[in-house]
Amino acid sequence: MNQIGIFDSGVGGLTVLKALRERLPSERYLYLGDTARLPYGTKTAATVRRYALNAAAHLVDHGVKLLVVACNTASSYALDALAESSPVPVVGVVLPGVRAALATGAHRIGVIGTEGTIRSAAYQDALASLGPSVEVRGEPCPLFVPLAEEGWGDHPVTDQVAHHYLTPLLEWGAETLILGCTHYPLLRPSLERVAGSAVRLVDSASTVADSVIGDHAELIDTSHGDAGDVHIQLTDASDRFLRIATAILGHNPEHLEVVDIDSAV
Ligand code: DGL
Repeated sequence: MNQIGIFDSGVGGLTVLKALRERLPSERYLYLGDTARLPYGTKTAATVRRYALNAAAHLVDHGVKLLVVACNTASSYALDALAESSPVPVVGVVLPGVRAALATGAHRIGVIGTEGTIRSAAYQDALASLGPSVEVRGEPCPLFVPLAEEGWGDHPVTDQVAHHYLTPLLEWGAETLILGCTHYPLLRPSLERVAGSAVRLVDSASTVADSVIGDHAELIDTSHGDAGDVHIQLTDASDRFLRIATAILGHNPEHLEVVDIDSAV
């Protein structure tokens, strides 16, 4: 039981893995990208819950000591079910994102995410309970995940799509925008260009690392110095994943394999 397990539907969770690695370089990480079933964001709550429980069971079978749900859609729809069924602690991305947004002091907070995340109202509810005086507006952005998976984070087509999705939030007066999908930090250059410098863009990657360190200090392993490692498992082979993972991590992933997780329950 010496690895931190992380999962997402695809490359998005690597933004969380990167933040964790920067803060905890000694740790060993097992990352599962459920690329065979991507995207999660357009699926129903029941399907996402089933996929998330299946992915978590697979990581637990591989002996992880902590589970980071690096997917907002799975965190929104399945965090309670995951926490109930998991023998190891579970950390989601919604609350850390909400904390990061409230820390900006904004009165109007826009949330962008997958259709599932916005429909679940997980962000809207958490913001209403932790920041009752804050006004919140959510906007689903279904085309963003394919653009991020394509590596088009700094691209005129992404600028155009972002313009379409963000304009209602900008006209409404959003001062802070929560990137409520772990894929969206990969689109930052386009999103920053369209949102403008007056709007703060926040994501949960670094605050998730804070939660892991703050709430699970007893599980942190510092015995490998800076020599932790990352094992990546995918449910479907994907050259595109490899290309983007290499760009995010700054090197080729050392250990990458395709796994069948269907038998994990
Ligand atoms: N990266 C995920 C999220 O944070 C899921 C994207 C998808 O599969 O639709 O919601």
